[in-house]
Amino acid sequence: MAPTVQKALVVTEVGKPLQLVTDRPVPQPGPNQVLLKVTVAGLNPHDEKARDAGLFIANNLPAVLANDVVGVVEALGPQVSKYQLGDRVLSHAGFDGAFLQNGLQEYALSDIGASFKIPDSVSDDEAATLPTNIIAPLFGLFAQNGGIGIPAPWTPEAKAFDYPGTTLLIIGGGTSNGKFAVQLAKLAGIGKIVVFGGPVEELKSYGATVVLDRHGGYDSALKRILQEVGDDLLYAFDTVNMPEGQILGLNALSSSRKGKMARLVPRGPVDETKVVGKKAGFELINVFGSSQANPDLAYPFWERVPQFLTEGKLKPLPFTVKNGLTAENVNEVLDRYRDEKPVVKPHIHI
Ligand SMILES: NC(=O)c1ccc[n+]([C@@H]2O[C@H](COP(=O)([O-])OP(=O)(O)OC[C@H]3O[C@@H](n4cnc5c(N)ncnc54)[C@H](OP(=O)(O)O)[C@@H]3O)[C@@H](O)[C@H]2O)c1
Repeated sequence: MAPTVQKALVVTEVGKPLQLVTDRPVPQPGPNQVLLKVTVAGLNPHDEKARDAGLFIANNLPAVLANDVVGVVEALGPQVSKYQLGDRVLSHAGFDGAFLQNGLQEYALSDIGASFKIPDSVSDDEAATLPTNIIAPLFGLFAQNGGIGIPAPWTPEAKAFDYPGTTLLIIGGGTSNGKFAVQLAKLAGIGKIVVFGGPVEELKSYGATVVLDRHGGYDSALKRILQEVGDDLLYAFDTVNMPEGQILGLNALSSSRKGKMARLVPRGPVDETKVVGKKAGFELINVFGSSQANPDLAYPFWERVPQFLTEGKLKPLPFTVKNGLTAENVNEVLDRYRDEKPVVKPHIHI
């Protein structure tokens, strides 16, 4: 049985390092929830933005971070039959305002729709590479509201959509989100996946048609992208959101037909005077990648993920591990994000 209190790392003040507490209450699972004994908490850039700028947490302190969570089922909510005690589960923590689902604590609640039982062939760490970084491109590509609206391949709308005849531009193929965007595009059967930036061989192994070097300046980048897409590009997805990157993706869209671009980090309005020649207009969409924010798209996806993983249609990403729920371990990772040093999907073993 779970104890009544637990250890957790908390943000008590925005801009200050995380602190260890030992008296955080262990919650009880409600309907459609289970309680997990956390084994892995996966960190992402937004955790640094939360600690240092209050993103998502400023009004609800103290806060617990980490939305990528793996754990073992410790208790079942009323009438939950999807899991049994002891199952290994991957959970995408929701933004519940009370941080009962986040990973930097010993016990976390999980919404069963935003989770799956991890197949035997997949490790805890491999599973933990998914949630934050696959739901954002899932929504970016496949959400009708909050994405560019290509139909998800398992929906009825997919039957009438010409995936092989579609071209997609992904800006920032080197990010975790970019790598999963390529995999999702391939899974859907998109015919031409043009990726700007990122490791060539790795991205091609995920299904990229062509990978363009991101260095060399804006004019050369746009020219090389246009050589690949011509006037055909209706769909773009930007994971990095450098100010010039927004213009790059928009200027690569078709001029004669209205294209759409989804972006992960809204930097405010784009300077439209720099987007040239879009006679049919264009649409720019901000993505909010929380499973609970669009359960109609996310939950049927999570149901399918174990099979996608065992069939090799989705491949986990590289990760790094630190052992121990200590403030030092987590603050060090978040400091690296803050200082823009290289970080490979960091996992804390609880
Ligand atoms: N809206 C949402 O719901 C949502 C969800 C998830 C993440 N995000 C945001 O999306 C962004 C990406 O997150 P992530 O975790 O996927 O990133 P990440 O994995 O930490 O990305 C790191 C990689 O980005 C590439 N990169 C760095 N600067 C670049 C540039 N100027 N142009 C192109 N590529 C560049 C580098 O790869 P190469 O050197 O190989 O190119 C680097 O290795 C973050 O800002 C994150 O907060 C938003």
